[in-house]
Amino acid sequence: MTQTELVPGLAGIPAAESSISFINGAEGLLSYRGIRIEELAAQSHFEEVVSLLWDAKLPSQSELDALSGRLKSHRELGPALSKFVLGLPQSGHPMEALQAGLAALGMVSPVLDDNDPASWRDACERIMGAASTLIASCERNRQGKELVTPDPELSIAGNFLYCLNGEKPDAIRERILDCALVLHAEHTMNASTFACRVVTSTETNPYTATSAAVGALFGPLHGGANERVLRQLESIGGPDKVQEWFERKTAAKEKIMGFGHRVYSTKDPRAHSLQELARELFKTHGSTPLYDTALALEELVTAKLGSRGIYPNVDFFSGIVYQKLGIPTDVFTPIFALSRLSGWLAHWMEQRGDNKLFRPGQIYTGRKDVTYTPMGER
Ligand code: CMC
Repeated sequence: MTQTELVPGLAGIPAAESSISFINGAEGLLSYRGIRIEELAAQSHFEEVVSLLWDAKLPSQSELDALSGRLKSHRELGPALSKFVLGLPQSGHPMEALQAGLAALGMVSPVLDDNDPASWRDACERIMGAASTLIASCERNRQGKELVTPDPELSIAGNFLYCLNGEKPDAIRERILDCALVLHAEHTMNASTFACRVVTSTETNPYTATSAAVGALFGPLHGGANERVLRQLESIGGPDKVQEWFERKTAAKEKIMGFGHRVYSTKDPRAHSLQELARELFKTHGSTPLYDTALALEELVTAKLGSRGIYPNVDFFSGIVYQKLGIPTDVFTPIFALSRLSGWLAHWMEQRGDNKLFRPGQIYTGRKDVTYTPMGER
């Protein structure tokens, strides 16, 4: 079949068959392997979600313990990767460091046996196992601080906070970050997942495929929106300034970060859950003017743009939650990546299990039959 009509952004065009997650954008429904995100956010935890995404079912206790144990066994970066992290420039963004770090992790890991799915799975576990330490270590290096040796007793969320701050997180902070990881783990065929599947379809390894996905997630229209939401809220200057700020933005035809979504025409279900987390966090640890500004902005944008299907997305509340957890703004998108690695790797395994090289067409708009003009005649 030759498609002759361009669909910008491939909006709505199926790129693969997948049984990993499902969205109904009109109803604001998201499920992982058939289980609603609200149920997972309330009752599950990140390691269990990794198991669910990868094995297509909830694990038994012994299966979960075995997977968690294997992930923990890969938590340390080892001398070569630690040296690599310490050699990274302190300028630049942690997403750039993560992109390089995942490729470097591949360089210090066993070469994949293309004919052995056990070797594929081992590589995925190495990535998921090391990611929390890798991201936190890149940030420590950026801050000029010594790297922290990971703690094998902690969850992925707990280890991330420990390796970032050098002290064990309290139970509330660890649980809230864990819940944020559950909420961001997987989201059908978005730009970064598509990038991961395209790279995977060349039969490359999951280190380079997830490294490519990190590059796609970095952009402000995708995962990079969460840090911009925070900067946007800070720039508004308080709930009483929201109206005036909004009018200026809309007059300039600028987008409001943290609102709108290609597939949801209602409030993103993950934004509901993150708002609950924010509410809980601010109740126990005290509110901030940013939270009040966010509530005022949500009310106004929903009233003005809701009829066009523009509502808060997942990134709207995540930044204020992470800020309250004491996480630097530049590390917000890497946290999204830490979580989404689980989904990308599920897609890596699904794509490799039934692969067809991606090779879309194009609609050529250039000139034809142009003759070469020698340099002296131009
Ligand atoms: N603020 C104001 N207007 C908006 C917004 C917004 N946040 N989002 C969409 N619109 C308007 C847009 O201006 C356009 O209007 P018009 O038809 O008059 O030109 C119309 O809605 C369609 O916009 P689009 O950008 O063509 O639609 P899309 O389906 O490509 O939008 C989006 C999806 C996420 C790129 C867009 O909503 C956006 O840029 N939002 C802000 C960035 C953001 O928050 N991104 C995080 C997305 S959720 C995390 C993730 O999964 O990656």
